[in-house]
Amino acid sequence: MSRLLATLYRLFYDGLLCRLPEPAAIALGQGLLRALPVDRLPIFRLEDPRLRTTLGGVELPNPLILAAMYYEPRILRRAMGLGFGAVTAKSITLGPRPGHPAPNLVRVRTAAGPGLVNCNGFQNPGLEAFRASLRGLPHRVPLIVSVAGESVEDYLTLARELGPLAELVEFNISSPNTRLVYEWSTRPHELRALLGRVREATPKPLIVKLSPDFAEVNERQIIPAALDAGIRIVNYGNTRRVAEPRLSQGAGGLSGPEIFAATLANVARARATFGAGLEIIGTGGVDAPDKARALLRAGANAVGYFTGFITRGPILARRILEELSRTA
Ligand SMILES: Cc1cc2nc3c(=O)[nH]c(=O)nc-3n(C[C@H](O)[C@H](O)[C@H](O)COP(=O)(O)O)c2cc1C
Repeated sequence: MSRLLATLYRLFYDGLLCRLPEPAAIALGQGLLRALPVDRLPIFRLEDPRLRTTLGGVELPNPLILAAMYYEPRILRRAMGLGFGAVTAKSITLGPRPGHPAPNLVRVRTAAGPGLVNCNGFQNPGLEAFRASLRGLPHRVPLIVSVAGESVEDYLTLARELGPLAELVEFNISSPNTRLVYEWSTRPHELRALLGRVREATPKPLIVKLSPDFAEVNERQIIPAALDAGIRIVNYGNTRRVAEPRLSQGAGGLSGPEIFAATLANVARARATFGAGLEIIGTGGVDAPDKARALLRAGANAVGYFTGFITRGPILARRILEELSRTA
């Protein structure tokens, strides 16, 4: 059955979503997700106690995580019933942000398969509106909130205010679409001070989301600074910055299977370098069960994806869980 749904989704994606202009495809996809109660259908989930895991001491029913992109509570609620062991909300900034003007997302066909390049620019409702919208959201699985600041104070406020609403807090220092966030990786000494202080802002487990564009700095400076600050989880990682003349900013973050090889290498190296004291979420390019399994075998504690949710559909989580269950 899940195989059939996966095939039907491919026909829908290739035959319709891919032929529509990107804004219309996004409106249709998100509209369907809001309207259809897919989260009530058991076919999208698979419960197997052998797949349970923990992240920062928080129990997850399985190691699959929907990566940051959605902030609407209705969509987060749906996603929580679609097989994921945890769901990440989109990065939230202190004030609301309209994001970068359109075009801010384009599809790409790479040799490895279909991907996306976005320069979303943190389109989000801001701390207050997001916090209000989360009231009443049932946490069917753990919620990870993601915070993105322009200053140390922003990060502290966001972590302090949003921490109580989530099971884990992710620290975005890696989205390549706004200089202020991306440039943290070029200032590792200031980042060390920030990581030290943010640990005091919330008792919730913290995750640092890394950029694949800064592998050497990540492993030489940022991960050691996180560990020194008592932050034991990294998400490796975000999109890769690329030139893309079709986007309003002339550049954006590449996601999807083209970045998978780098994700796998980054996870394997980080595990070899930092050993069992570091928990690693491997994110970037997972769009098939064997890729999720490869990341776990390379040392990831959990696997995140977003683009695969779009290109392979909501049934991908179930397909991955079947594979993990079969080889558990
Ligand atoms: C349209 C779009 C918006 C995204 N927004 C965020 C965000 O707000 N915060 C963040 O940390 N990552 C964001 N990401 C990055 C994803 O969470 C993920 O790290 C990245 O896409 C690589 O994984 P994938 O290849 O499975 O998509 C976004 C990605 C896309 C495509």
